Amino acid sequence: MDYSILIRKAMEYKERAYVPYSHFRVGAAILTENDSIFGGCNIENVSFGATNCAERTAIFKAVSEEGKTDIKAIAIVSDEDGYTYPCGICRQVISEFAAEDIKIILAKSEEEYIVKEMKDIFPEPFDKF
Ligand code: THU
Repeated sequence: MDYSILIRKAMEYKERAYVPYSHFRVGAAILTENDSIFGGCNIENVSFGATNCAERTAIFKAVSEEGKTDIKAIAIVSDEDGYTYPCGICRQVISEFAAEDIKIILAKSEEEYIVKEMKDIFPEPFDKF
């Protein structure tokens, strides 16, 4: 899989981040089972708990447009020097829609990225009750 398109899309969406409180911009882009790409940014709120992360913005956009979908890949970028990993709530939400072999691409640039799998970042999910 060529990850550069997804990384570029995540970077493009990072520009739209609404971050007046943290000033920490995050962008995400997901590839769905239909080969559609959806981007998202973090959207903060004066009531901090109402903030939505970039990953969840992208996923909720996809599901609201296409219905339930298996996510084949997600790219995440930020302003940080290092790699930005999804937060706990986003790991849970990614897990809900992740394809069996989902690739989680943590990128600094189109050339510099690492690829993780769900078992690396969320080994024992809460997935039934
Ligand atoms: N943030 C994300 O968008 N994704 C993550 O996985 C980590 C955190 C955002 C939320 C908040 O707007 C800012 O980063 C600082 O926590």
